[in-house]
Amino acid sequence: MGDSEGSSLSSPLVENLGSDDALSFIKGYGAYGIVGAGLFAILIPVLLSTIFMGKRKARQRGVPVEVGGEPGYAVRNARIPDLAEVPWKGATTMAALFEQSCKKYSRERFLGTRKLISRDFVTASDGRKFEKLHLGEYQWQTYGQVYDRACSFASGLIALGHSEDTRAAIFAETRAEWLTALQGCFRQNITVVTIYASLGEDALIHSLNETQVSTLICDSKQLKKLASITSKLSTVRNVIYFEDDESGTMSDSGISSNWKVSSFSEVEKLGKSSPVLPNFPSKNGIAVIMYTSGSVGQPKGVMITHGNIVATAAGVMSVIPQLGRKDVYLAYLPLSHVLELAAESVMLTAGCSIGYGSPLTLTDTSNKVKKGTKGDASALNPTLMAAVPAILDRVREGVLKKVEEKGGLGKKLFSLGYNRKLSAIEGKWLGAWGLERMLWDVLLFKRIRDILGGKIRFMLCGGAPLSGDTQRFINICMGAPIGQGYGLTETCAGAAFTEPDDTSVGRVGPPLPCCYIKLVSWEEGGYTVSDKPMPRGEIVIGGNSVTAGYFGNQEKTKEVYKVDESGMRWFYTGDIGRFHPDGCLEIIDRKKDIVKLQHGEYISLGKIEAALLSSSYVDNIMVYADPFHTFCVALIVPSHQVLEKWAREAGINYQDFSELCNKAETVREVQRSLSEVAKAAKLDKFETPARIKLLPDPWTPESGLVTAALKIKREQLKSKFKDELQKLYE
Ligand SMILES: *[C@@H]1O[C@H](CO)[C@@H](O)[C@H](O)[C@H]1NC(C)=O
Ligand SMILES: *[C@@H]1O[C@H](CO)[C@@H](O)[C@H](O)[C@H]1NC(C)=O
Repeated sequence: MGDSEGSSLSSPLVENLGSDDALSFIKGYGAYGIVGAGLFAILIPVLLSTIFMGKRKARQRGVPVEVGGEPGYAVRNARIPDLAEVPWKGATTMAALFEQSCKKYSRERFLGTRKLISRDFVTASDGRKFEKLHLGEYQWQTYGQVYDRACSFASGLIALGHSEDTRAAIFAETRAEWLTALQGCFRQNITVVTIYASLGEDALIHSLNETQVSTLICDSKQLKKLASITSKLSTVRNVIYFEDDESGTMSDSGISSNWKVSSFSEVEKLGKSSPVLPNFPSKNGIAVIMYTSGSVGQPKGVMITHGNIVATAAGVMSVIPQLGRKDVYLAYLPLSHVLELAAESVMLTAGCSIGYGSPLTLTDTSNKVKKGTKGDASALNPTLMAAVPAILDRVREGVLKKVEEKGGLGKKLFSLGYNRKLSAIEGKWLGAWGLERMLWDVLLFKRIRDILGGKIRFMLCGGAPLSGDTQRFINICMGAPIGQGYGLTETCAGAAFTEPDDTSVGRVGPPLPCCYIKLVSWEEGGYTVSDKPMPRGEIVIGGNSVTAGYFGNQEKTKEVYKVDESGMRWFYTGDIGRFHPDGCLEIIDRKKDIVKLQHGEYISLGKIEAALLSSSYVDNIMVYADPFHTFCVALIVPSHQVLEKWAREAGINYQDFSELCNKAETVREVQRSLSEVAKAAKLDKFETPARIKLLPDPWTPESGLVTAALKIKREQLKSKFKDELQKLYE
């Protein structure tokens, strides 16, 4: 969910679940002796199940539907004919839903947090210092307790003098108080502004000023960051900070004396001693203004209504099987991202418990976890988790690398087990599979599963497209289905969601019950709804989860949102998709990444990049096409290792890597390799970059050239390498 404009997650998320964690996934594989003995036990069921081959029939998951607005090919969820609006009657706003859920589940565990036991620093061999945390077991608040705290906080806000026409902002890492504060604001009809931590100072100043934020709610870490820009935050009056286990008072942090600074618990106390009646919002009231990075210019604030969030919650609830109070969700993605906000709203609706963690403490071997102590997952044993593709990719790479290093019997066994399970998932084996699977799970996959606590039964994945290979891999090794979702901040996450029993890969599932998905022909781009074998076109989303538009930007709102004759809102995503016969959507392209060349051929930059990335020389690539020419060009960050190996073998002399990149021989060699992979991928001649430039420095999220999810940022790259691109066309 949340692809396109609004998809970058804060960078520590992606950075820190690095290969070390992934590697530890498989450390236990030393015990190959036992494994060898098990081999015989496996052979018998293997033979047995071969006899029972069969194929499951595909189920209809989405069906065509008549809708208003621009003509196209529209599909709805096959199981639920009427658009879902609320999870149950009366839960029309997040505030109402919260109150009703808290009453219903009042004694159940709701929010869990780990207490800090100790904080140490270790010094690595290169002199760098690393923080190591020892965290305790989860301590829980019940639904009833959280409700009381949210009510007190809501009253406290009013007692502090938060004025009606202004807004509150939450600028903090994901934690229990985040959700509590959010619900407190909702109870007093206060709109909450959220900002990606990765957006930077200018964006922060812009967003807070644009939305007239008077109450800023943050953690003490963010509060320290604000010290240097206090003078620019002219609308802010109150600052409320979440206490850390060990933070002292905030008086010494050098922040503006114009601000009234209070701690979260002070506000709670204040509210408790002077309770105020709630002021419930309405269905169409704006619950959250979520700032996401735009590809150009200032970030945009997407206005998400209460009705949007409850509709998404209703939609997602109905697709996760048996979701309920027994489920435990591990929360660690940023709540300022729509994927996490939607996921936690779903958990709250279903009465699940939410245990908070962080990307840096997720597993026993995560960077910040003190050796010998537990990571969040093994302390919590979650049944549900959300993830972004970059994390899952790294897990897969890590496990494969470890298997490769082991070599020998271990490697053979892994690949046998993997392939057996793969065929089972693809529906080729029935019969005795149950027994065989148990064996494989015990022998191979249990250890990988245990890294995430051993109880995961469903993973939600969104934020960017997940590769089919990774989806399969995690599926097999974790033994749990992955629900890949598609959606954007503008559609309040929910749009499409893979059903748990769908074992295909590369697709994002049928529309969620809260919306319709329509393909609209884009004639000039060459995608039409009459295409064979599947209808194709721009993805347009309509229904209850489609948000109210961009804050203070009518013009941009009108450009991408349309309201049809029946009053339904439609959002034009700019993504190109196609519908499979069973009603599942596949994302195949991006409208703005398609360029018409001088002779009228359309080329898809993303498609070419995806194809050329398979050259071992290419670490990263951006293809660029000037519409006034007949060919395209490419900027390439070559792989140091592979290129230097080639240079050694070819006897090329060079001082440094940058010189190597500039050599004509080097460029020729990389181009040769590109032509080869282009041919293999059946690219047309005009789709193969005619000229390339090799750039020695990697593109990182810190340099702003790729998103935190490591997707390239075209506009930024274009402007940074303007001269290089121009030279390629000379
Ligand atoms: C804040 O917004 C006002 C308009 O509402 C504008 O005049 C002012 O320059 C902005 N200040 C900053 C620091 O962006
Ligand atoms: C809630 O706030 C919005 C905007 O501040 C306002 O338009 C609306 O009337 C309020 N609703 C209620 C029920 O007070």
